[in-house]
Amino acid sequence: MSTRTLSWDWYPGTIPENVVLDETAYVETTFSFHLYRSEAPVGVEYGRGASTYLGTMFDVGPRGQVSLGKFALVHGARIICDAQIEIGDYALISWNVVLMDTYRLPFDPTQRRRELEQIPFRSPRRIDGTVPAQPILIGSNVWIGFDACVLPGVTIGEGAIVGARSVVTQDVPPYTIVAGNPARVVRRLDAGGIEK
Ligand SMILES: CC(C)(COP(=O)(O)OP(=O)(O)OC[C@H]1O[C@@H](n2cnc3c(N)ncnc32)[C@H](O)[C@@H]1OP(=O)(O)O)[C@@H](O)C(=O)NCCC(=O)NCCS
Repeated sequence: MSTRTLSWDWYPGTIPENVVLDETAYVETTFSFHLYRSEAPVGVEYGRGASTYLGTMFDVGPRGQVSLGKFALVHGARIICDAQIEIGDYALISWNVVLMDTYRLPFDPTQRRRELEQIPFRSPRRIDGTVPAQPILIGSNVWIGFDACVLPGVTIGEGAIVGARSVVTQDVPPYTIVAGNPARVVRRLDAGGIEK
């Protein structure tokens, strides 16, 4: 049982044992782990200077693994992960973004009904579907605008920008701006200007 608490926390929770925090990382509240149930050796890893702010929820299933690269900043995203979600160095994820590597529910309505029928008898009372998951990979220096949604299996290339309220259904090339639903390339960016 974890005993790691945060002195500034408003929520009386703890950081799970298999969450690895660099000493310079920041977790605004342990409420971010309220839906967390990863049993992987490392379920979430925060790199140097990485931060998660209020509203970020790690809805991570038993086999899920999430990593935040150095100085990555997640400002209130819902991270739904049953396989792998990798957030690159210096990536910036804005408010209400949804990153989902699984849909959690089957497409077949009968199977969906069965799932819903079981929820009242579970503790905690949650969806626990076993549908396929496909990793999401977010490159370094990516910026994802507020309310955007990234669907299973998507890779977002280094330096790309995702416009607010976009739905990203397929891979995003490096150094492009994508926007809309479904997200399409609206502009290409200069790839040369990053100081390392
Ligand atoms: C992605 C973004 C940064 C692009 O800004 P920009 O370079 O000024 O883009 P433009 O206004 O030149 O738009 C280029 C085209 O994409 C479209 N577009 C831009 N953002 C869009 C969006 N979020 N959804 C749909 N279309 C969008 C524009 O309508 C325009 O289309 P057109 O060429 O047919 O006229 C900006 O639109 C955005 O979404 N910002 C939100 C940032 C954010 O979430 N900040 C929160 C703090 S971290």
